[in-house]
Amino acid sequence: MSSLVVAIDGPSGSGKSSTSRGVASRLGMRYLDTGAMFRAITWWMLTHDVDVTDADAVAARAGDAIIESGTDPQAPTILVDGEDASVAIRSDAVNAAVSPVSAVPAVRTRLLELQRSIIEAGSDIVVEGRDIGSVVAPGAAVKVYLTADPAARATRRAAEAGGDVATTQESLLARDRIDSGRATAPLTMADGAVHIDTTPYTLDEVVGQVVALVEAVSGAE
Ligand code: DC
Repeated sequence: MSSLVVAIDGPSGSGKSSTSRGVASRLGMRYLDTGAMFRAITWWMLTHDVDVTDADAVAARAGDAIIESGTDPQAPTILVDGEDASVAIRSDAVNAAVSPVSAVPAVRTRLLELQRSIIEAGSDIVVEGRDIGSVVAPGAAVKVYLTADPAARATRRAAEAGGDVATTQESLLARDRIDSGRATAPLTMADGAVHIDTTPYTLDEVVGQVVALVEAVSGAE
């Protein structure tokens, strides 16, 4: 029997990472943060003097970074060329460049291959991103699309990463526009996804809702 995949998509700050890690921890599943992979390749481009506003230049180097993602939900790790990049990938410079870099088809093809090889390499897994239910794992047993009010998203992100809420909200909305408007694998609610607006719920409540969806499916198998 192939392993069970839970796809969790949604815009930045909708609660994807905390929810995905919580669900994976509660159910003893692996966890993959595909946003961290796009951030990692973006960081590599920035540190290798690639002009991230030039899609051809980005495409030409799309295969050059060595990216390794850990899948432990309690301690997710991301290595770039063997170096721990978990802090560097959350910088303002990466926040500003990651959406245009992610829109380059060669970058998506490269990371899609890596993502599928991780998903297929082992046990049950929760995968979070923008195009997991639609492109990366369209056969996922459970698909969830998380959203939250922009103000709630910005307040959460600013509390996690520091910075003021208004600037954080502007940066989130700018990324949403690019992520939803790009031609290749845009942010979208996949067919068959369950939409949860997390605004009124605590993290525990959202984790509980997703765990119930997974248990309903695995109980039925
Ligand atoms: O989830 P995050 O905010 O760390 O993601 C950072 C960026 O990576 C996001 O703005 C768009 C891109 N991304 C993507 O294009 N596809 C994914 N599956 C995950 C992230």
